[in-house]
Amino acid sequence: MSGHAEAQPMISARSGPLSGVAAVPGDKSISHRALIFGAMAVGETRISGLLEGQDVLDTAKAMRALGAEVTRLGEGAWSVHGVGTGGFSEPSDLIDCGNSGTGVRLLMGAVATTPISVTFTGDASLRKRPMGRVTDPLSLFGARAFGRKGGRLPMTLVGAADPVPVRYVLPMASAQVKSAVLLAGLNAPGETVVIEREPTRDHSERMLRGFGAEVAVEAGPEGQVITLVGRPELRPQGVAVPRDPSSAAFPTCAALITEGSEIRVPGVSQNPTRNGLYLTLVEMGADISFENPREEGGEPVADLHVRFSPDLRGVEVPPGRAPSMIDEYPVLSVVAAFADGRTVMRGVKELRVKESDRIDAMARGLEACGVRTEEDEDTLIVHGMGAGGMPGGATCATHLDHRIAMSFLVAGMAAQREITVDDGAPIMTSFPLFEGLMNGLGAAIRRG
Ligand code: S3P
Repeated sequence: MSGHAEAQPMISARSGPLSGVAAVPGDKSISHRALIFGAMAVGETRISGLLEGQDVLDTAKAMRALGAEVTRLGEGAWSVHGVGTGGFSEPSDLIDCGNSGTGVRLLMGAVATTPISVTFTGDASLRKRPMGRVTDPLSLFGARAFGRKGGRLPMTLVGAADPVPVRYVLPMASAQVKSAVLLAGLNAPGETVVIEREPTRDHSERMLRGFGAEVAVEAGPEGQVITLVGRPELRPQGVAVPRDPSSAAFPTCAALITEGSEIRVPGVSQNPTRNGLYLTLVEMGADISFENPREEGGEPVADLHVRFSPDLRGVEVPPGRAPSMIDEYPVLSVVAAFADGRTVMRGVKELRVKESDRIDAMARGLEACGVRTEEDEDTLIVHGMGAGGMPGGATCATHLDHRIAMSFLVAGMAAQREITVDDGAPIMTSFPLFEGLMNGLGAAIRRG
C-alpha cells in the first residue's frame, strides 16, 4: 500500500446516544513488535489478538521477505517461525512499509547489525517523514544508510558486518528510535545502552524480557538508562496482544461528547507510558470509571465505563505527559472543542512529524468547523465551545493520516452540522473495523 489506495470520503452526522460495548482491536505497537521479535527468535512464536490493520500486515510481509515464516492461522491468530538474531537474509525486492513509521523504523533497527542490504519505501506520507532520527544511532553500530535528501525514503540500509555496541542518549522522546537501537543491539556484542530523558512506551523492553533477553532499566543523571546485553538467544513466546488504548480513545471520546451516551470499553491499557489521554480526560471532568483492573498480555488494563459529560472544562496538559499520549492529541483537541474554556497543549512539536503535521491538520480542520485555535511550532490551543457548540458543516483534509480522519468523524457525531473527511481510507492502517464499530454504538458515519 504505497499511496495507490483511492481516496474514500466519509461523512459523520450528529448521532443519537451511543450505547453498548466498544471492543477495539489489538495494540498496533505491540503487534509490530510481536512479529519482529518472533522473527528474531529461534522456533515458533504464537500470537493472538494481533491487529490486522494494513500497517501490521506490511510488517508481517517484511518479516517474510527477510526469511521468517509467518502464517495467519485465524482471526488475529498468527504463527512466526523465527530465524534467530542475525539470521535475516537479504530480501530480493524493496520492503514497502506502507504508511507505517513504526514498521520502517523498527525494521531498520532489526536489520542494522546484520550484513545485508535492504531498501525501504512507503506511501506518500511515509516518504515525507524523517529517517535520520534512526539512521544516526544505527550508523554508530556501523550500519550505512543511503536515502533521499533530508534522510527520506526510499532508503537503502547496509547492515554492519562487525557491529559494535552503542551508548545513545535519545535527542527526542521517541519509542520508535529507542526500539530501533535496542533491536540493533540484539546482534551487537556487549552492552547497548539507550538513555531517555522522558519515559516513552516501554513495550520493547517488556517484550524483550519475555523473549529471554537481559534488559535493565534504572534511573541515571541524564534520565532513564536502558541496558541490553547483546546476542541473547531469543526464546519463542506466546504473545497475547492487549487492545489498543489509542484506538479505544475514539469511542471513549465520542461517548463523552455525544448527548445521552453510555458505553463500556473493555481492556484499556493503564500502562503509565500509554495512559496520558485518560488522565487528561478525567482532569477535564470526564465521567469515566476504571473497573476490573487486571493484567492482560503483560500489560495493566481496566474496563472503562464512559458516560456523556456535558460539563467538560478546558485544561493545560502538562508537557511532560506528551510521550504517554502522543497519538491522542488529535482526538483530545476534538474533545477540547466541546469543553468550556481553553485547552492548552504544549511540548507537542513531535506531532509535526507524524503521519501528517497533526498540529496543522487539527488546527485547519477545527477552524473549518468553526472552532478557534492558536498554534506555534510546539503548541496547540483550542478554544472550547461547550457541549454541542461546534458548528461543523465542513470538509476536513486528512493528509493520509488515519488519526486525523477518525478524530473529525468523532467530531461530526456531536457537531451541529455534518462533517466530511476527504479521505477515510487510511483508517485501514490501524482500525479496520472503525466504521462498523462506531455505527454499532449508534454513530451515523457513511461513505461519501
Ligand atoms: C510508536 C511510537 C510513537 C507513536 C507511534 C507508535 C511505537 O512514535 O507515535 O504511533 O510503537 O513505538 P514516536 O516514537 O515517533 O514518538
